[in-house]
Amino acid sequence: MNGNSLSIIDNRTGRSYELPITDGTIRAMDLRQIKSLNDDFGLMSYDPGLSNTASTRSAITFVDGERGILRYRGYPIEELAERSSYLETAYLVIFGELPTAAQLATWECEISRHSLLHTNIVELIEAFRYDGHPMSVFISAIASLSTLYPDSRRVVDPVNRRLQVERIIAKAATIGAFTYRHNQGMPFNHPDDELSYIGNLLRMMFRMTEAKYRPNPVLERALNILFILHADHEQNCGTNAMRVIGSSQADPYSALAGAAAALYGPLHGAANEAVLLQLEEIGSPSKVGAFIESVKREERRLMGFGHRVYKSYDPRCRIIKRVAEEVFEVTGRNPLVDVALELERIALQDDYFVSRKLYPNVDFYSGLIYRAMKLPSSLFTVMFAIPRSCGWVAHWLEMLTDPEQKLSRPRQIYSGSPERSYVPVGERRPSPAPDAPGA
Ligand code: CMC
Repeated sequence: MNGNSLSIIDNRTGRSYELPITDGTIRAMDLRQIKSLNDDFGLMSYDPGLSNTASTRSAITFVDGERGILRYRGYPIEELAERSSYLETAYLVIFGELPTAAQLATWECEISRHSLLHTNIVELIEAFRYDGHPMSVFISAIASLSTLYPDSRRVVDPVNRRLQVERIIAKAATIGAFTYRHNQGMPFNHPDDELSYIGNLLRMMFRMTEAKYRPNPVLERALNILFILHADHEQNCGTNAMRVIGSSQADPYSALAGAAAALYGPLHGAANEAVLLQLEEIGSPSKVGAFIESVKREERRLMGFGHRVYKSYDPRCRIIKRVAEEVFEVTGRNPLVDVALELERIALQDDYFVSRKLYPNVDFYSGLIYRAMKLPSSLFTVMFAIPRSCGWVAHWLEMLTDPEQKLSRPRQIYSGSPERSYVPVGERRPSPAPDAPGA
């Protein structure tokens, strides 16, 4: 018997099997040979939420959730946050190595060149209601880029893929800024290539009548760090959506719109918005205790807490907390910070949270920084989606060039009705409304 294998006895048949173990995993397809009858389909694994299924090999991001470690391409997140720029980190995440000075200069120039939006997209953004959720506008604008760049369907062409990657990194920022300006009823600021990627984003968002807008260096640094921290996080819900849609060889704009749509849910990227709303609802540190009790009665979740992978302190949260203090020195301290600190203090010593290993995640403090920058909470997830576009395209490229990857198509356990005959409409009995099964 091989030491690197799993022995299985199927008690239905008494047959035994030996499945190879590689990298701590067995191949799900190896289970197929295990059959109770010769003509049955074979054994499957059942894994709602894919909590224990590796869907790919990936060389992009390493997360050790037990020890609170996050690395991009081997580089610790703490070092990148301290020393890198968002565009440099994006290059690293997408192409696998830190760029040389010449590569970085070319990359920055390419991104800047693609940052303008076609007037069709500008008009599209303008056509939405001003108070439409900025994430809905962002998703729609990203998806509609595929109407302007039909060449993006040639996903098998590496030169073409690189062009689309540059367009996505560049235009995600401009679209994000324009969704904000539209939401505020303010005219758009078109990109200015004299500024850094982050400085330009701040200018597109916040320039009023100044002829020469100068981003505040503390805010620029803070946003740079936030963008580095959000650049990738391996196989999360949005990235999985990107890979699933991309696996059909759809164009990257359609796939990225799908990934952004996944991010928009409050259990994922819109948790940052939900946290702020929750802090506002609590209102003062003295009300935190009662709120925590309602969470423990499972009447609600404490947003910005808990993670599928991190079962210790999210390393991104530690960095964000420090950056937040630097930002507040410039913007003034929002009283909601004290509510957040009190929530964290109580939760981290309460057995409900301790026993479930629930710690603050990346979304817990980021919203407070965005609020300090005077952004409405509805824009917070857009501020997550812009830098996460880098991770999405990195995984898209990796998936397309991985010979083991194929069309994503999970199986199911059918639990519906057995075969039955069509009943004419006049002979049918009332049944629960089809849009409310089980009601
Ligand atoms: N507040 C209260 N209880 C919680 C929370 C929370 N935030 N998160 C998990 N639990 C409890 C949950 O009720 C369950 O308890 P029990 O074992 O008694 O049933 C236990 O902890 C395990 O929860 P789970 O839902 O099985 O864990 P999961 O890995 O499926 O959930 C999560 C991960 C992020 C969806 C969840 O922690 C959550 O809903 N958090 C709040 C939303 C949030 O902050 N999302 C952002 C995630 S990080 C950034 C990102 O992905 O964008």
